[in-house]
Amino acid sequence: MKKIFFTPGPSQIFPTIPKHLKEALRKDILSLSHRSSRFKKIFYKTVDDLRQLLNIPKSHHIFFLSSGTEVMERVIENCVEKHSFHFVNGGFSQRFFETAIELKKVPFRHQVALGDGFDFDKVEINKKTELICVTQNETSTGVALDKKDIVLLKKNHPDKLLAVDIVSSAPYVNIDYSFADLVFFSVQKGFGLPAGLAVLIVSPEAIEKSKYLINKGAITKNIYREMNFYFLEIKLLLKEGIPYFKTEYKNLLCPEGSCRPCDERRKQFLMNVNE
Ligand SMILES: Cc1ncc(COP(=O)(O)O)c(C=O)c1O
Repeated sequence: MKKIFFTPGPSQIFPTIPKHLKEALRKDILSLSHRSSRFKKIFYKTVDDLRQLLNIPKSHHIFFLSSGTEVMERVIENCVEKHSFHFVNGGFSQRFFETAIELKKVPFRHQVALGDGFDFDKVEINKKTELICVTQNETSTGVALDKKDIVLLKKNHPDKLLAVDIVSSAPYVNIDYSFADLVFFSVQKGFGLPAGLAVLIVSPEAIEKSKYLINKGAITKNIYREMNFYFLEIKLLLKEGIPYFKTEYKNLLCPEGSCRPCDERRKQFLMNVNE
């Protein structure tokens, strides 16, 4: 018997999913090239349907990513040069704040006790703030922010971008996209889909900010530096591996004269070692 969990998710998949998956297999959709016109048609239909379902205006762009956590990174990376401001009242709003720190930004935070909401009017938002971040439904405590308060927040700070996490309230929460710049959710909760897909809805102002940061060369490339780090580790491995191979190569290769590739390796190795 299928189990029903009364938790925010990952949830039991929507009842019609097995049928859709079977259809996708029957129509060979899983083998489609992502550059084919058939795939493009499916993609554009998904975007159109999503626009209709969530009332997303034509002005806003829709991006597909892999998780809500990844979206937090992309939002900070693309829209913050230095300062974001985070309303923190639980684990996920705190994660958003920490993401900014990890990306070497200098975020501000207004923190209240777990289980509390915010009195937005009474919070002074630092003038240097570029992006305000709120978690509409803080899954870790169950505290939901009123949509009207989110609209007021943007109205009171029209010069700042506003990011709204609706991971555990989509598609049921009704966001007014004229007052939100970066709205995101992943699909393993209210959509009842398998995990591994997230949606980010972006205003033209946020796109402009991202272009500005790209042109300024201000988008941090920490991730690439991290890759470099692994590369250095591989060099270290090689350095340690050579002395090991020097003493062990007789046991690692086939006996001399019994295998041409191993004889070749032995020859090359001895040549390099003696150089
Ligand atoms: C409010 C909220 N934000 C962000 C996330 C992270 O989303 P994901 O698990 O897709 O990375 C979650 C996940 O539970 C969440 O509930």
